[in-house]
Amino acid sequence: MATSPVYPPSPEFVRRAQVQGMEGYRALYEKAAADPEAFWSELAEKELFWFEKWTKPFETDYPFVKWFAGGKINASYNCIDRHLDTHRKNKVAILWEGEPGDQRQISYQELHRLVCRFANVIKARGLKPGDRAIIYMGMVPELPVALLACARLGVIHSVVFGGFSAEALKARIQDLAAQLVITCDGAWRRGKEVRLKDAVDEAVAECPCVRNVIVYRRTGGAIHMQDGRDHWWHALDEGVSEICPAEQLDSEHPLYVLYTSGTTGKPKGIVHTTAGYLLHATVTMKWVFDLRDEDTYWCTADIGWVTGHSYIVYGPLSAGATTMMYEGAPDFPQPDRFWRLIEKYRVNIFYTSPTAIRAFVRQGDQWPNAHDMSSLRLLGSVGEPINPAAWEWYHKTIGNRRCPIVDTWWQTETGAIMIAPMPGAVPLKPGSGTLPMPGVIADIVDLKGRPLPANQEGYLVLRKPWPGVARTLWGDAERYKEQYWARIPGVYMTGDAARRDEDGYYWILGRVDDVMNVSGHRLSTMEIESALVHHPAVAEAAVVGKPHEITGQAIACFVTLKKGDWNHEEVAEELRKWVAHEIGSFAKPEQIRFTDALPKTRSGKIMRRLLREIVTSHAVTGDVTTLEDLSVITRLAAQQDEE
Ligand code: WTA
Repeated sequence: MATSPVYPPSPEFVRRAQVQGMEGYRALYEKAAADPEAFWSELAEKELFWFEKWTKPFETDYPFVKWFAGGKINASYNCIDRHLDTHRKNKVAILWEGEPGDQRQISYQELHRLVCRFANVIKARGLKPGDRAIIYMGMVPELPVALLACARLGVIHSVVFGGFSAEALKARIQDLAAQLVITCDGAWRRGKEVRLKDAVDEAVAECPCVRNVIVYRRTGGAIHMQDGRDHWWHALDEGVSEICPAEQLDSEHPLYVLYTSGTTGKPKGIVHTTAGYLLHATVTMKWVFDLRDEDTYWCTADIGWVTGHSYIVYGPLSAGATTMMYEGAPDFPQPDRFWRLIEKYRVNIFYTSPTAIRAFVRQGDQWPNAHDMSSLRLLGSVGEPINPAAWEWYHKTIGNRRCPIVDTWWQTETGAIMIAPMPGAVPLKPGSGTLPMPGVIADIVDLKGRPLPANQEGYLVLRKPWPGVARTLWGDAERYKEQYWARIPGVYMTGDAARRDEDGYYWILGRVDDVMNVSGHRLSTMEIESALVHHPAVAEAAVVGKPHEITGQAIACFVTLKKGDWNHEEVAEELRKWVAHEIGSFAKPEQIRFTDALPKTRSGKIMRRLLREIVTSHAVTGDVTTLEDLSVITRLAAQQDEE
């Protein structure tokens, strides 16, 4: 195996770091491994504000776990109120820039005012602890305000990414039986308005559970307001009280549900609860981002995904950071928008995705080079494996070889970062997430659960419960058990393949299940297949991920049409639109290939592995719309009868 370059932290970085040198990292890691109860208890006491202390750090009823049972806590209080009698009272909590260039700076005191007011608005609509609110908004400050107002009352929030279609939104509202939808008239994206309220109207028409829709005015576009159901945020906000005490909630009170793609057509509602999640987000914010009070910290994710939940809202605000938010596209009005923002706000910590980095590489160095980015001291990457070439470019062109890069591996289900370097401690290897966080017991095993030796590829698993782990799937505890904890008894299956090198560094290779990672967004092949077969022209469909230079993977579909005289080009276009309608435009297939038959085993299972080979090796090439004859493969495949 080729040895990879190693980048140890610079002495200046180590000197000022929160965790210093490998000794610092090892001491924490060993302490957590030796006595997890004491380790997490101490951190919970130090890092969070409690109305009432817990009685036990954790208890398990395998595979279900409770952290800090008996404690009373509130996430909104921890993210705002506890900073108000400190030097952070007038510190900027949220630093925001809209795509058109408008700006807002919201201090912790001001955030408190906004959140209390909006919590009172929600309360006046009759919502109580345990009720569900769907949030479908663009990246405006009112989005975190809505999250924190829900958290303040114990209302369970579920953010639906603004790129999802009305159909996808409807499915999530119905699954949660949500009473309230919070949205915007629209959002700005590449100078155009994304019409969010129209999608809400379409979705809510079939959701009798929704009593109220609250609309924040962002774009000023003309929208329909239904009497009795729809209310303007600004109208309800008028004259409302600024006092709203935070509910004293159980540690295990659900904080939010976030839907993510699994291996079936139905998205999973990942349930995160309050205390453990918040602790995990808070400590990793400090360990991995080495946060200092004076930092301007910017995570470019959308709050519609877990990264935005944990590292734009809950982690940074709980840790008292200035968290920056940008509303729009990275290349609007020009490809240097991100670099312009870094220069303008003197950003110190910058956290983005490999897909974004690869797109920047393609646009050329002249864009970053035209800006002074000397304020940067730390860079981060998340969401998908970062290839060493993109890592090197990020390190050199953006970080000027001064800034460590924290490659952070985690999942919607893990709540917060699991494998990543502590930047003042762990030497970096481009492409590796390096070492697990304290309290995280990772391993590489075979399907029987046997640990594999160094450098052998296997399944990445996690052996011990950690505070941020998803507690269950909304309404489906069985699926939770079976998906994550049953394949190898006693361990959590991540669904990722990985290897661990001779230094114990983890190298993530990608998913081993039918989940694709497109631009760092998780999509299930089944979800797209079931959207396709819904279309009246489609008889059968199989979807696989195809390697893609920029987005990591792209969506390739093999489609068998019902009998008829089809114009393939037209049908392909129609199916692309159809998938965007059923799921969202970010799920639009890149490639649609028509075939007479799909390769199947004798028992009738579609052999995606063969199709993956076809799209990877280009064994079958040609125009996207040609009719392919896969019957040979089908016959061959049937003989092998793979299970
Ligand atoms: C992948 C995003 C390699 C992985 C936080 C995981 C990564 C899935 C990395 C979770 C990384 C995430 N290196 N792969 N640093 N981070 N992944 O739930 O396959 O949207 O299982 O959470 O993304 O995606 P999710």
